[in-house]
Amino acid sequence: MTVEPIRWSEGGLHIIDQTRLPLEYREIELKTLDAVWEAIKMLRVRGAPAIGICAAFGVLVAVKEQHPSDAGAMRRRVAEAAGYLATSRPTAVNLFWALDRMKRAAEGVDGAAGAEALWRRLESEAVEICEDDKARCRAIGQHGAPLIRDGYGVLTHCNAGALATGAYGTALAVMYSAQEAGTSFRVFADETRPLLQGARLTAWELTRAGIDVTLICDNTAAQVMREGRIQVVVVGADRIAANGDTANKIGTYNVALIAKAHGVPFYVAAPLSTFDRSLPSGESIPIEERDPGEVTEGFGRRTAPEGVQVYSPAFDVTPAPLIAGIITERGILKAPYDRSIAEAFGKAPST
Ligand code: MRU
Repeated sequence: MTVEPIRWSEGGLHIIDQTRLPLEYREIELKTLDAVWEAIKMLRVRGAPAIGICAAFGVLVAVKEQHPSDAGAMRRRVAEAAGYLATSRPTAVNLFWALDRMKRAAEGVDGAAGAEALWRRLESEAVEICEDDKARCRAIGQHGAPLIRDGYGVLTHCNAGALATGAYGTALAVMYSAQEAGTSFRVFADETRPLLQGARLTAWELTRAGIDVTLICDNTAAQVMREGRIQVVVVGADRIAANGDTANKIGTYNVALIAKAHGVPFYVAAPLSTFDRSLPSGESIPIEERDPGEVTEGFGRRTAPEGVQVYSPAFDVTPAPLIAGIITERGILKAPYDRSIAEAFGKAPST
């Protein structure tokens, strides 16, 4: 059974608080717009598609919180909430993609329609964003599964699993589908400093699913490749530019370089909602910088001297030439990416 990190039930937004994993599995309800913003900012809910889904439901939370008296006031609240949630995290484009969908849904309802009709339209849009993501992730898994063969070692970085999406994940969906196909393989999960999404979340998810997983420190990746234990790398993405340059969790670029040096194919798995075709290359992808405290005293214990300078970008950009293929719900895109990405969108006009 896949994990579903975000639930809209009985008119309320419930998430698994991922900051507590793996020690504690706790669902919390986000009852205010501020609580939704805080949950995204503090990574209670994280991973590009999950951030988008949570923000879409967050717009509903914001509307409910204010009880707007008519459709006009509801539309203004949608715009206000979308503008605010857009300030929570800058890199994952799914956030802005989902908020745009919610704004368009609000604008698309006839001006004469009442608040009730507008609410129904907004709720069905948010639910569709979530359900649609699950279907995309399933398809990504099915397209990517043949890349994993019997006896393979698969390396992944951060958490691009069910926890990071509506369900199933992107990079991890490939592994779940390979498992379903009866393939026998082993995963090496980078622990992913500084917030340990690999150790806390990927290791938790894969263990729970009965997939053979070995946790390694980030700086062990080159050694396991040199030992011949990795045959393929699969990671997720936060934003992919029109030329295929890919932003993902800090350290992904290191992995891509190491994979290149060892002749190991490096794949990215992502839905089309993670592509930003308005950016010609990865150079203009905005990269979030995180609080230095996450590096100097992560998880409550100081590990660096007081006052030391820290530089903590949360993401890096892997140049397209290092990427063997991008696994999407429309199949595996290959270089030249400007062409294959444009074609993938041509085949999916609604995205
Ligand atoms: O800072 P995070 O935990 O939100 O970063 C998540 C990642 O970098 C994931 O690899 C990416 O969002 C893809 S999730 C399917």
